This record gives sequence, C-alpha cells and structure tokens, in this order.
Amino acid sequence: MNKILKVTSPLFPPLEEFQAYLSEIWKDKQVANYGQFHDKLEDALQKFLKVRELSLFTNGTIALMSAVKALGLSGEVITTPYSFVASTHILKWTGITPVFADIEPEFCTIDADLIEQAITKKTTAILAVHIYGNPCETEKIELIARRHGLKVIYDAAHAFGVEKNGKSLLKEGDLSVMSFHATKVFNTAEGGAIVSKEGEVRKQIDYLKNFGFEDETEVVTCGINGKMDELRAAYGLICLKYVESAISARKKIAETYRYALTDVKGVSFINEQVDVKSNYGYFPIFIDRDEYGINRDVLYSRLRESNILCRRYFYPLITECPEYRNEPSAKATNLPVANRKASQVICLPIHHELTAQDTERVIDAIRRKG
Ligand SMILES: Cc1ncc(COP(=O)(O)O)c(C=O)c1O
Repeated sequence: MNKILKVTSPLFPPLEEFQAYLSEIWKDKQVANYGQFHDKLEDALQKFLKVRELSLFTNGTIALMSAVKALGLSGEVITTPYSFVASTHILKWTGITPVFADIEPEFCTIDADLIEQAITKKTTAILAVHIYGNPCETEKIELIARRHGLKVIYDAAHAFGVEKNGKSLLKEGDLSVMSFHATKVFNTAEGGAIVSKEGEVRKQIDYLKNFGFEDETEVVTCGINGKMDELRAAYGLICLKYVESAISARKKIAETYRYALTDVKGVSFINEQVDVKSNYGYFPIFIDRDEYGINRDVLYSRLRESNILCRRYFYPLITECPEYRNEPSAKATNLPVANRKASQVICLPIHHELTAQDTERVIDAIRRKG
C-alpha cells in the first residue's frame, strides 16, 4: 500500500514547546480576551511581515467580513470567481452584491483590464485575491480605484510573507486580509488577520472584532466576536519560528516539480516571477486534455487511486454555486478564462514534510498519467 500523500500538511509547533506555553496559560488563567500571547503574536507578525498595523482574528472569514464593515461598503463589489468560496460569501453575508470579472491566464488573479467595464453607480469596492500567493495587478487596480473613488480589499489568505520588489504585498490596497487556517503556509489551526495602513483604521477594526467595545462599558460600534484566543496565539507564536524553514522546504519541492514537469506535453504551470518573493503555498498544474491525452478529472481520480491526494483548487468556480449562478456577471461567457482554468487545474502535494522520494512519486505519476 502506497503512503498517502496529501496536498498539504499543517505546520505544527513542537509539542514540548507548546506544552511550556500551555503551562503559562494555565498559570495565568487567561485564555481569551487578549492575553500575553495574543499581543506577542501581533507584535511578532508585524515584525516578520514588515507591516505596522496587524489585528489578529479568529479566522480569515470573520476578518474579511470585518474588513467590509470597517470600510463601510455597500451596493456592489467587483471580485473574482476563481477563489475559495469565502471570498464571495462574505460579500453576501454583509448584504453586498458580488459582480464577477474574469481572471488573467498567467497568474489566475482578477484581470485588471476587465474591472472598469464592471463598474456601475452602485460599485463601492474591488475585492481581489492574491490567488496561490500570486500578486494581483496592484498598480493597475490602485489607479482604477482612485479614478472611480473605490476602496480596495485584498484577500491575502494565500500571501503570507509574499513580497514584490522587496515590499510586502500586505501593504497594497486599503486593507489586506489573511487566513491562518491549518491549510496555510503559516497557521494557528484557525485564525486570520487584517493589515491596515493607519492606526485610526486599525482602532476601528479592533473595536469591530470585540463586539464594538472601546472599554469595559462603552460600545462604540456594532461589532462581532473575531478575537483570537490564547491557545491559538501561543501555537502560532511557536509556528512562526519554523515557518521560514517550512517555506525553504516548499521552495525545493516547487523547483523539483518545475524542472521535472517542464517537458511533459499538455501540462503547464505558473511561472515564477523574478521580482516576487514567493511562499510556495500551492503548486497548481493545468492539464490540456488534447495534448496530455486524458482530462484533468481522469488524472485526478487515477492519482487518488494511488494515494496521491491532489485537490482541484479552484474548481468548481464560485459562480457555479446556486447562490451566485443567477448573477448576470456569473455567466460562463463573461468568465471564459476562469472556466477554462477551473476545468484544467490540479494542485500537487507541497508541504514541509514531503520527502524527495514522495516528490519523485508524484512526478512519475504525472509522467505516466496516473
Ligand atoms: C482565498 C481564501 N479566502 C478566504 C479564506 C477563508 O479563511 P478562513 O478559513 O481562515 O476563514 C480562505 C481559506 O481558508 C481562502 O483560501
């Protein structure tokens, strides 16, 4: 029986280090409502990610919803169909109509050249996703936003530590939202954060994540409970020490895949960008059925049969959900690139525990077509 190879594996803190922190929590008897580990993790992440204002959250979804509230968005928001469903669900949850624009074919991020034609009188913002950690066309998006007086939120759930030209991607737009879910390069089991540019905005975000409390008695806004607890903050604080070596391990795997799969007919992947410091969170490949000989789903099933558990991120498209299917902008004719990519994509296993042998097994399977 072949060893099971999963698409990812969580980066766990060494148990003995976590136990030492747990002992402190047991002693302090502070497990929620901003203890020492919450504050230490916020500080440590700000330094590590080279950003000034980072607010921890209980998960990325609540953080995204809070970002929408913090910017006072309403009406319509232009977004991508090629992402995890949470990117759009949070719009619906906050009473906003998503308007979908297609993606560009090279990096699978929203096609900035298609945003302007989707703007109406009701548009208040652009919600773009740095999908797989690939930077969106931030300069173009910034110009469009300025021209039309729109806000910009980046869903940076995949972009932990990603930099472009030496600058953190998290500094782009009005707000960037991160996920620290177990499937992510850096995780706190469940968790997330909002990165803002100014202290005043951060203050609003901090009210929003704590029911709107300013102090013990004063409620200044209609907040929610988005706070991260001490257990997960302690877990994250330790993980942070190991994340760079986990990223290096991922980098080696990505390089091996690129080298080995470059000449396989019908298989393509996303090129590395010289000016981007990547986190190697995902390794999507795209299967051209005519050239490869079998389609993506046949390959996916065959890989599963040999215990290589790939994932088809991001299939089906968000626009395929019954919730969004009837939006005029969800029509397949409006989103040809996203539809094609979603039908071709398969994400290969990539994580810090994958051995050279495991990687070879995946490569052999792709070469042999399962
Ligand atoms: C692109 C994207 N946005 C948002 C989320 C939601 O984050 P969370 O699971 O932390 O709520 C995820 C993943 O989990 C994601 O991949």
